[in-house]
Amino acid sequence: MAETAPPLGAQHSAASVTCVKKLSESPDLNSIPSCYAYYTNPAETMASDHHDSIPTIDLSLLTSDNPDHRSKAIQDLDKACEEWGFFMVVNHGIPEQLMRAVIDVADEFFNLPEEEKPEFQPQNVLEPIRYGTSFNTAKEKVFWWRDFLKVFVHPQFHSPHKPQSLREVVMEYCKRSREVVRKLLKGISESLGIEESEMEKSLGLNSSLQIFVANLYPRCPNPDAAVGVAPHSDHGLFTLLIQNQVAGLHIQHKGNWVHVTPRPNSILVNTADHLEIFSNGKYKSVLHRAVVNNMKARISIAVANGPSADTVVSPAPHLLRTQDCRPAYVPMKYKDYLLTQQGSQLNGKSSLRQVQIQD
Ligand code: OGA
Ligand code: NI
Repeated sequence: MAETAPPLGAQHSAASVTCVKKLSESPDLNSIPSCYAYYTNPAETMASDHHDSIPTIDLSLLTSDNPDHRSKAIQDLDKACEEWGFFMVVNHGIPEQLMRAVIDVADEFFNLPEEEKPEFQPQNVLEPIRYGTSFNTAKEKVFWWRDFLKVFVHPQFHSPHKPQSLREVVMEYCKRSREVVRKLLKGISESLGIEESEMEKSLGLNSSLQIFVANLYPRCPNPDAAVGVAPHSDHGLFTLLIQNQVAGLHIQHKGNWVHVTPRPNSILVNTADHLEIFSNGKYKSVLHRAVVNNMKARISIAVANGPSADTVVSPAPHLLRTQDCRPAYVPMKYKDYLLTQQGSQLNGKSSLRQVQIQD
């Protein structure tokens, strides 16, 4: 049970909130403060062991010279995006060592003394380097059991100065991630029947906004009564996620929560809101959440890959023309969408619903 007198974060002003890492290290913490008490709806069920059927995409087939292999891979990608909004990518070309290095350097970052980290809880949600806790403590009644570092890494690269190797490792990992995303988007453009160049132009992909997010989920004394990240969809096109050896990601599939146990050396990919908008609802963004545990701290690296910040995104005109259908979403500048989403309390797909046209 959660304590009744919350020692931290009770006023919900950014200044009074501490990072969860520090809280979890308090020597006599036997239960969580009540401002972290998060109860899941008991009616929401976990799927039984469903994870074997989570789709896998072999990126080397998607870019193969063999047309049969390629068209099969494109079909698989289309199906994975349409039926799951989630898949594991293998043969992605990112060295395992680099994936490990980026997780290690995030761990090092979180272990720095607080005074060596960037400002905690900056007010502006579009600031290029943000270090904080939960999601938006100024707006939330219940906090999430996670600390984060969010850095804008493309089209302009930013990085905290410490730890020393962070800049180089993150730069390389994010560059490689963009290559993966470009290949996935090329596959998507083919399955939607849209010229690649048209998609690039409509989404401003040459100056795509890429955000590096490192999440730390410290051990939690009441893991069943707290949440790492509450159910939400991501704002961009595709999010790429890797983690240390600790599980915790759940995705929603056919109304059930499915545990994700990644294949070794794979990258987890989920479809996000702007892919849903661009595809006029063909590829729905997937709801996902992160749970916590009382055994071992979990670190995940989520790289959000979106359109360019100044692009006004709307359902692809080509789709509306060829399928003779009406747009299901109103056009909105990606930056404005981000401001709305990041500036509020994150709640399921509520940001997307604001641009959805109801018939
Ligand atoms: C995110 C997110 C899940 C995880 O950062 O948007 O959904 O498993 N993270 O860390
Ligand atoms: Ni997410």
